[in-house]
Amino acid sequence: MADCRGCRLAQTRRHTAFGEGNRAAQVLLVGEGPGREEDLQGRPFVGPAGRLLDRMLAAVGLDRETVYIANVVKCRPPGNRNPEPDEAAACLPYLRAQYALLRPKIVVCLGAVAARYLCDPGIRITRDRGRWREKGGVWFLPTYHPAALLRDESKKREAWLDLQALAAKIKELEIQ
Ligand code: URA
Repeated sequence: MADCRGCRLAQTRRHTAFGEGNRAAQVLLVGEGPGREEDLQGRPFVGPAGRLLDRMLAAVGLDRETVYIANVVKCRPPGNRNPEPDEAAACLPYLRAQYALLRPKIVVCLGAVAARYLCDPGIRITRDRGRWREKGGVWFLPTYHPAALLRDESKKREAWLDLQALAAKIKELEIQ
């Protein structure tokens, strides 16, 4: 998709950040879209939020080699604004293809944008984070976006509960 011109984000991006991780991963994490660092490097979650995500994963014994990490949109929205609905609609076929190839057992939605597109358009992240939803045998967990944790430290306690819930679900499903 490096040459994709499917929406206006192609005009301002430097690199697409397709996604990366283990092709046999059973856990898929989905963010919103690339930020500045991701746009420069063409990799998801490599900026400050990504470094926090790495530490969060490590806290429950996961890393980039065991999970797969992707975003709703693969090109940086200018100024890190939320993706517009038409941009998300243009890009979602890539995420659907990633999902179809991986066939994950667990999908962690990082933040409201991912949770709304993947779980339920009516999701409110402060209300609904940490509540598992099961769809067709796949477990979806909405949680805070790591960038939100960097902005507001008080959310870290709830994020930690969500991580523990993730670890417990991995154990329950005997994934690792
Ligand atoms: N924020 C996201 O949602 N995704 C990234 O890849 C980086 C920051």
